[in-house]
Amino acid sequence: MKNNYKRQYDEKWNFKEHSMKEYVHGLHPYPAMMMPLIAREMLKEYGKGPDTIFLDPYVGSGTTIAEAQLYGAKEAYGFDLNPLALLITEVKTKPIVIENIKERFKKFENYKILNIEPSEIPSFSILHSWFKEQSIIELAKIKKFVFESFDDSSLKFFKMCFSEVVRCVSETRNGEFKLYRMSKKSLENFNPDAFKLFEQIVDRNIEILENADVKYNTNVKLFYDNSNMCIQKYHLQDKFDLIITSPPYGDSHTTVAYGQFSRLSNEWLGFTDAGQVDSKLMGGRKINAYHFNIEELDDAIDKIKKYDLNNNGDRYRSVISFYKDYLETIEAISQTVKIGGYVVYVVGNRRVRNIELPLDVITYKMFEKLGYEHIVTHVRDILNKRMPSKASPSNRVGGQISTMTKEYIVVMKRIK
Ligand SMILES: C[S@@+](CC[C@H](N)C(=O)[O-])C[C@H]1O[C@@H](n2cnc3c(N)ncnc32)[C@H](O)[C@@H]1O
Repeated sequence: MKNNYKRQYDEKWNFKEHSMKEYVHGLHPYPAMMMPLIAREMLKEYGKGPDTIFLDPYVGSGTTIAEAQLYGAKEAYGFDLNPLALLITEVKTKPIVIENIKERFKKFENYKILNIEPSEIPSFSILHSWFKEQSIIELAKIKKFVFESFDDSSLKFFKMCFSEVVRCVSETRNGEFKLYRMSKKSLENFNPDAFKLFEQIVDRNIEILENADVKYNTNVKLFYDNSNMCIQKYHLQDKFDLIITSPPYGDSHTTVAYGQFSRLSNEWLGFTDAGQVDSKLMGGRKINAYHFNIEELDDAIDKIKKYDLNNNGDRYRSVISFYKDYLETIEAISQTVKIGGYVVYVVGNRRVRNIELPLDVITYKMFEKLGYEHIVTHVRDILNKRMPSKASPSNRVGGQISTMTKEYIVVMKRIK
């Protein structure tokens, strides 16, 4: 590692006293959400006040965009390939008239006693594997209520609330990102009341929005697209003063499965390709070989490959494919920042086959080659982020090792 690359640990970045759910951040759960205070502090430090033009290329549930709005940025752009992520971000950041929502919600009672036609039950392939028949009928009634909302912002608000109900009444295990079934024993006593849950979630979210008192002064632009398209398709060269983002730290199938987490919601909401989200994300298409010219990365890949070839595995292909996409996206993203502008990447260093992939160093080196200088890397303990804390380091059954206890806030400045 180059001598001038330094990591700095300071307790301050742990934000022990703060909740992940403050302001609008508790409206809907999402995997691997960013600690909002990171975005808040970084905006204060590197933003350009009310002139700030901001980008998050991996927007997820919109933590950074909501914080950019709270900060008072002029414009905030976000990209994501998961429709649910963009829906949550929109509700957090686009104008909503709470009175309209309350007025509309009074009509919900009528929908509970409606008859549902068979044609109003969705027909996606895994429906009956994940929901009890009673839940399917209740969800269909809620969906009818949601989709018959008159104004666009109420429609989106109710869709987001509905998504959380879908998760709660599905037979998936609590606290898992992937679609894992509840145990037989838990299923026997599982009789969720979708109507009641919907009412509780709507009430909670109305309260969150009322307390947050969001000022909708930032022009928010969201793109349902791959962020590597930011130059080629959207021509966003030299546009942004600041990027703050937390990219995935590996391919979805072996790390955080954003698509699986959102699958049932995306299906019920009628988004096309709901089952394909994970394969569209970085590392979703496998390649066999690539040389990155980054010592730390190439060395780690060599070791993983050697292990795999001796043990009939091919995890190394997922690793190479992910980093190739990661690099291509950085090549595009790096061009979107103004000279003198800043990029903040919040990353974790995972282990594969018990070999560490130092994503903070890799990120800094990729940006350095593209005309950036390193400003600082803050190290923080992950205390309350929702992500898997354990992963099997090998094929051994029961072989578990802690993979993500630190998070790195890598700050770079564009100088060329
Ligand atoms: C760690 S999450 C972001 C979480 C976000 N900071 C929050 O607080 O909710 C990473 C996001 O990147 C998205 N993603 C992965 N590959 C992408 C790509 N190539 N283009 C756009 N988004 C992508 C995933 O769908 C996921 O929502």
